Amino acid sequence: RALSILTEFEEKCGTPSSKLKQVADAMTVEMHAGLASEGGSKLKMIISYVDNLPTGDEKGLFYALDLGGTNFRVLRVHLGGKESRVVKQEFEEVSIPPHLMTGSSDELFDYIASALAKFVATESDSQHVSPGRQRELGFTFSFPVRQTSISSGTLIKWTKGFAVEDTVGQDVVGELTKAIERAGLDMRVAALVNDTVGTLAGGRYNNPDVAAAVILGTGTNAAYVERAHAIPKWHGLLPKSGEMVINMEWGNFRSSHLPLTEYDQALDAGSLNPGEQIFEKMISGMYLGEIVRRVLCKMAEEAAIFGDAVPPKLKIPFILRTPHTSAMHHDTSPDLKVVVTKLKDILEISNTSLKLRKLIVEVCDIVATRGARLSAAGIAGILKKLGRDTVKDGEKQKSAVALDGGLYEHYTKFRSCMENTLWELLGEEASENIAVEHSMDGSGIGAALLAASHSQYIEVEE
Ligand code: BG6
Ligand code: GLC
Repeated sequence: RALSILTEFEEKCGTPSSKLKQVADAMTVEMHAGLASEGGSKLKMIISYVDNLPTGDEKGLFYALDLGGTNFRVLRVHLGGKESRVVKQEFEEVSIPPHLMTGSSDELFDYIASALAKFVATESDSQHVSPGRQRELGFTFSFPVRQTSISSGTLIKWTKGFAVEDTVGQDVVGELTKAIERAGLDMRVAALVNDTVGTLAGGRYNNPDVAAAVILGTGTNAAYVERAHAIPKWHGLLPKSGEMVINMEWGNFRSSHLPLTEYDQALDAGSLNPGEQIFEKMISGMYLGEIVRRVLCKMAEEAAIFGDAVPPKLKIPFILRTPHTSAMHHDTSPDLKVVVTKLKDILEISNTSLKLRKLIVEVCDIVATRGARLSAAGIAGILKKLGRDTVKDGEKQKSAVALDGGLYEHYTKFRSCMENTLWELLGEEASENIAVEHSMDGSGIGAALLAASHSQYIEVEE
């Protein structure tokens, strides 16, 4: 019986190339629709107001706040300018206490501002900005925000387990600025960016071929550089560069081609945001472990794989995290020792047979493979929209995609499956012109770079 549950699950999760190509095509279609009009698609295709990516000339001391990944970070970035281009960064990482993720806006922003104040308070004299100059900050806020300028935007909705109701509809820079004032700091938010936009900026700083950035972490999303005249819903002046960075919010992508299972449907129905972020719920780190748990739970209930009773811990939503399933998936010991340990430590399950442990690894593999292959299809969709998925007239335009996030960084099998699938979808010739690179912590540096290029002092310096 357990085997038949597994086989059925595997079939439903199937992602042959033909299906992934349909997903990629659907992504391209939705991108067009989201660019055509506000509300035209599940893909919000948010205009970021970033129409110039870093050049390398950025200079000075800037700060960055990064909220929305596993950890909240405060950074101080020293930009060396054209000559040295050296980026020195110091940072501090704090986890957000869970009660603040569902509390009030003031509490959340006060917590962030006080971490920032503490960070600034530890500065030595040499780390100060020039006298008479206000400290400037790039704010990486990794949630869907309707930007109203480079330094303002209202929160559309929370994702990834945050649910601070009174922030929705508010200008998040306003919320942060008020908290900064309450903390007694004198600091100005010069740029508000999504983590994908920050990663794109950080990636471009190091490699001019970077055309898109993807986050595979707690959540998942992508941003890319669009031609401004290909954005019908943009009614502002055409930027001089002719370009505009778009934050796709691809986590909310949905298509009939997605291989959804009963487990995904149940996960979605029980989530904080039912009906939303369906692509994200199939791919990202917040959810992969939970899908595995749901499959094991069904096997425990219907095939008694863990004995007559369902182990009580196994019934607890989100108890099994993606780092745990990743560890089990990578277990190379002949008797699957890591699986034994994880089952015992996390689920209080012992006395499993090797055969059962192999079955559990198989479930982890199916879930990770589907997520990795779908994310590759998403990237192929973006490259297609950019016309960079094929080689035209022997033209060799190089493109790079910057990637970041814990899932990509730590889940080796996910990462290699994603990359291999991308080459599978693009074919050998096109693949030669495309690079995928890890832009480590690029979003923090990217936010600081964008704060620098939108500094209030920029005219004075030029
Ligand atoms: C980090 C970026 O490296 O990855 C963050 O700097 C981003 O901005 C994060 O949000 C996403 O990863 P995770 O795994 O922490 O959600
Ligand atoms: C979620 C957020 C999005 C963010 C992504 C990765 O999908 O909505 O803004 O970029 O997670 O952190």
